[in-house]
Amino acid sequence: MLFPGTFLGVWNLLQISGRESVASISPAWLQAHGHAQVFGWVGSFILGIGFYSIPKLRGGEKVSFVQAWACWAMWTMGAAMRWAANVYRWEWRIFLPLSATLELAAFLIFFRAMSQHRPSDKEEKQIEPWIWVIISASTGLLLLLIVNLIGCFYVAFREARPAFPHLFDQRYLALLAWGFLVPFVWGFSAKWMAVFLGLKPLRAKVLIAAVIANLAGLALMVAGKIAVGVWFSLAATLLSIAAIRLFEPSINEPKTRGVHKSFPFFVRLAYAWLIVAASLAIVAVMWDHSGGIWGASRHALTVGFVSVMILCVGQRVLPAFAGMRILWSTRLMFLALFLLTLGCGARVFCEVLAYQGYAAWAWLALPWSAILELTALTTFAVNMMGTFLLQPAHSVREPMVTRIAGAEL
Ligand code: HEM
Repeated sequence: MLFPGTFLGVWNLLQISGRESVASISPAWLQAHGHAQVFGWVGSFILGIGFYSIPKLRGGEKVSFVQAWACWAMWTMGAAMRWAANVYRWEWRIFLPLSATLELAAFLIFFRAMSQHRPSDKEEKQIEPWIWVIISASTGLLLLLIVNLIGCFYVAFREARPAFPHLFDQRYLALLAWGFLVPFVWGFSAKWMAVFLGLKPLRAKVLIAAVIANLAGLALMVAGKIAVGVWFSLAATLLSIAAIRLFEPSINEPKTRGVHKSFPFFVRLAYAWLIVAASLAIVAVMWDHSGGIWGASRHALTVGFVSVMILCVGQRVLPAFAGMRILWSTRLMFLALFLLTLGCGARVFCEVLAYQGYAAWAWLALPWSAILELTALTTFAVNMMGTFLLQPAHSVREPMVTRIAGAEL
């Protein structure tokens, strides 16, 4: 699911750089890329991790395989259909709303499966703070899917091309970023990072304050009060970092067995990217006249924060989830994270310079940033394939998540 969106992103950026204008590219293609990355790749990753880990972490029974496969099939079909409708325009007036319906239905299967799982032990009945954050993110995703469905019906009946109108798309992207992606990462960070990085215990009240500030910022942005909303997003980001205590000295050794030693550094770097993303949004409100500062802020968030985090956490937990395997190559893990950081840095910096017309040479650097990011994501995919196909599985009796949270690995 990583490749269709990534290839289209690279293709779009090559076209934009060649023509030195983002306006010359079809909005349907830009949106096809964004949708494929966020729903196809990140969404599948979150649904998979959720199906595997949430019931176990809450002490419930196993999720039914039928539900999980039905969810996967509908989600994947929906994402693929959207890509085809946006890119090839084939029967798009039918496939656009159909894809959105399939994605919403898939999520409802996931939501039902997750909400059926109650903690078995009485002591566990009190909901932990990280679960509240995941509930906020899941509600954000549900809202996003409903807005996507409404948007797709509107476009199918009213528009001449398969793309959301610009203003609608901008608000939809705010919901996607701050309503769905960011709180999901916060939730899983709140659960796992204290153990993985040996951090001091979570400040639960500060985390809830971060969620509330984030929701306030999002509401303001969606209501069109973007100049105020972006400050709330920055405040929420800083609160989340204070809550998880990411930049405070660790009290225990980080658990880096089985992954590259740089793992704690890149997790912290991902949060630094989130600060960059939120700060660039404030700058964009003041100075953007080309879409470049907004684009840079969006990619600091989607590539710098979300993708770096997926490369860190994915390579940390997926080998164990898939049959207690060991990661194929820790060097490839480092290479992927290094190249992604380099590519994202070049992209964010040069996008502002090029799109805003501050430096013409930056247009020449942008395609290289895309190549670096593509190579990084391919390296990650190769490492995961190597892990699943070449590394032996080991059976376990105890739930693997418990072992992972207890950092046996
Ligand atoms: C190889 C890496 C990537 C490249 C080259 C790339 C390229 C692009 C380009 C050229 C745009 C058009 C707007 C602009 O100029 O800023 C864009 C938009 C976007 N990208 Fe990426 N991208 C990449 C990775 C990602 C990832 C990993 C995500 C999500 C996790 C993502 C999500 C988005 C979203 C949501 C949009 C906005 C689409 C819209 O206008 O509706 N991108 N990307």
